[in-house]
Amino acid sequence: MKLLEVEGLKAYYGRARILHGVSLHVDEGETLAVLGPNGAGKTTLLNSICGLVTTEGEIKFKGQPLDGLKTHERIRKGIGICPEGRKLFPNMTVEDNLKLGAPSEDCEDELRLIYDLFPRIKELKNQIVKNMSGGEQQMVAIGRALMARPKLLLLDEPSMGLAPIVLGKIREALMRIKNETDISILLVEQNVHLALELADRVSVLVKGEIVREGEAKSMTDLEKHYFEI
Ligand SMILES: Nc1ncnc2c1ncn2[C@@H]1O[C@H](COP(=O)(O)OP(=O)(O)OP(=O)(O)O)[C@@H](O)[C@H]1O
Ligand SMILES: [Mg+2]
Repeated sequence: MKLLEVEGLKAYYGRARILHGVSLHVDEGETLAVLGPNGAGKTTLLNSICGLVTTEGEIKFKGQPLDGLKTHERIRKGIGICPEGRKLFPNMTVEDNLKLGAPSEDCEDELRLIYDLFPRIKELKNQIVKNMSGGEQQMVAIGRALMARPKLLLLDEPSMGLAPIVLGKIREALMRIKNETDISILLVEQNVHLALELADRVSVLVKGEIVREGEAKSMTDLEKHYFEI
């Protein structure tokens, strides 16, 4: 079953068109990675799905068009976003940041799930976020997106700015989300290695157009091909 269907998507900032007819889908239980260089339109794609930019074309979630729905309504339908640059509240604690992602005060089960996924975050739950490392903050950002129990998790460059060891922890957690939950993932990345490890399928976005797509297994040449430009 297709969970997310994007068909002929065009996205605009004012009069500037950034996406020129993007089509892709995410099946239930699947992980799709969208790879592309800086400025390709990756964040714009996720913002379009969240209802944060002006679009034309079709975006369907669970078979229903999302047209006209506000961002919070899309989130309530089961779309979780972990935004570019994390966008945490730096002066609040880890746990308070997590609770901001929950639809109600009663979120003990969700917190337990996230602390199970990220034991390090449990240790740090009363810490102020701004004093934590980039990797720890990324874990909080992913955790916050999971607090609303999404069916589809949108991840905007979770590898950004992270050292390889820390990235390993993020990769482990994403693997567990993929393998141990029924959450589907749409990951946008420049890190080809991470994307190929996590994704079932890959689409390559360059200058607002999908230039290639296929099984992750068949994309091992990507690193050389697209990102040396
Ligand atoms: N709010 C905005 N207003 C106008 N133009 C924008 C806005 N946000 C992004 N753009 C432009 O849209 C294009 C795509 O940007 P986008 O942020 O979607 O790319 P990206 O693939 O996420 O890049 P990166 O890997 O650097 O995050 C760029 O040319 C960018 O300058
Ligand atoms: Mg971006």
